[in-house]
Amino acid sequence: MVAHQITLIPGDGIGPEVADAAARAVDATGVAVEWERVDAGERALLLHGALIPDDVFASLEITRVGLKGPTATPIGGGHASINVALRKKLGLYVNFRPVRMLPGLKTRYDDLPLDLAIFRENTEDLYAGLEHEVVPGVVESLKIITRTASVRIARAAFEYGRREGRKKVVAIHKANIMKLSDGLFIECCREVSAEFAEIAYTEMIVDNACMQLVMRPETFDVLVLPNLYGDIISDLAAGLVGGLGIVPGANIGSGHAIFEAVHGTAPDIAGKGLANPTALMQSAVLMLAHIGEREASARLHNAIYKVYATSDHLTKDVGGTASTNEFTDAVIRRLNPAY
Ligand code: NAI
Repeated sequence: MVAHQITLIPGDGIGPEVADAAARAVDATGVAVEWERVDAGERALLLHGALIPDDVFASLEITRVGLKGPTATPIGGGHASINVALRKKLGLYVNFRPVRMLPGLKTRYDDLPLDLAIFRENTEDLYAGLEHEVVPGVVESLKIITRTASVRIARAAFEYGRREGRKKVVAIHKANIMKLSDGLFIECCREVSAEFAEIAYTEMIVDNACMQLVMRPETFDVLVLPNLYGDIISDLAAGLVGGLGIVPGANIGSGHAIFEAVHGTAPDIAGKGLANPTALMQSAVLMLAHIGEREASARLHNAIYKVYATSDHLTKDVGGTASTNEFTDAVIRRLNPAY
């Protein structure tokens, strides 16, 4: 059996704890993986003098697939965000975030069968990082929206909708104010929607979308958004299904893919064994499907769901008392079909 080579970037804060948990769960599926561990983030800056040392790109050039824990980007100063740099350099233009209710989990919305698919454009918008000081006391940040990137993300959302039999796609924007930039974004979504007659297409202004998501989240299906709104709405949506400890993500381009949770480094709980590894494990479920290991992907998905359904061994953020390792061990036990 030839092992899959996968780049593992543990990251900062709770990153190493959840990355270790997710890698352990993947190994326990029986899929042969050769992990290439590389450092990025604050840890890499300390150890190697760079936030993204060259070996990160060198490894991803070979493996083409990464599993990544969150990384800290110093606020302000001269450091560009690691995630933004990775996504731009590797052309990871789709950020896909499935937001689903887990069985048995108590949340404010647990009576609703929430199943949202968020498609966030991943390479431009205000995240282009084009900021400068015009004169002291005045700064300018450029919002870049291109036809190419907007069509690409819209197509990814609609193609997913078709593949998965989804009914609706909503494009979220602020084109009433940003008439040219968000105007171009929705124009592209509208054009792409015409090729997918079986999927209902609507548009919603981002502030209204926030309210609708809180009041009627079950009316949402597939969401397509420019980068900044996608970032914010992803956290809001995570809050609907139990928080940031739950929601996975995939950054996908034409040559590479990096799987990572929506959450950050959670410095408040780092190093305490309290982190919920579900989000990165669920990212690993997406990763296994991406590398063609569909059976193992389904088995890991089911094992996670079984642990939630029985409500035992859950971590503190979702109302339990288990540590990161205890939750991970419970998932691994349930990978055995006889369990
Ligand atoms: P955060 O997501 O790290 O934490 C927000 C809250 O959610 C905290 O109370 C935290 O304890 C909780 N939380 C997050 N993940 C959790 C988990 N797996 N289990 C249990 N509780 C969890 O957001 P924050 O505090 O705004 O950002 C901290 C750092 O993370 C910043 O340096 C930021 O730049 C970075 N960050 C990195 C990301 C990435 O690498 N993908 C994404 C978002 C933020």
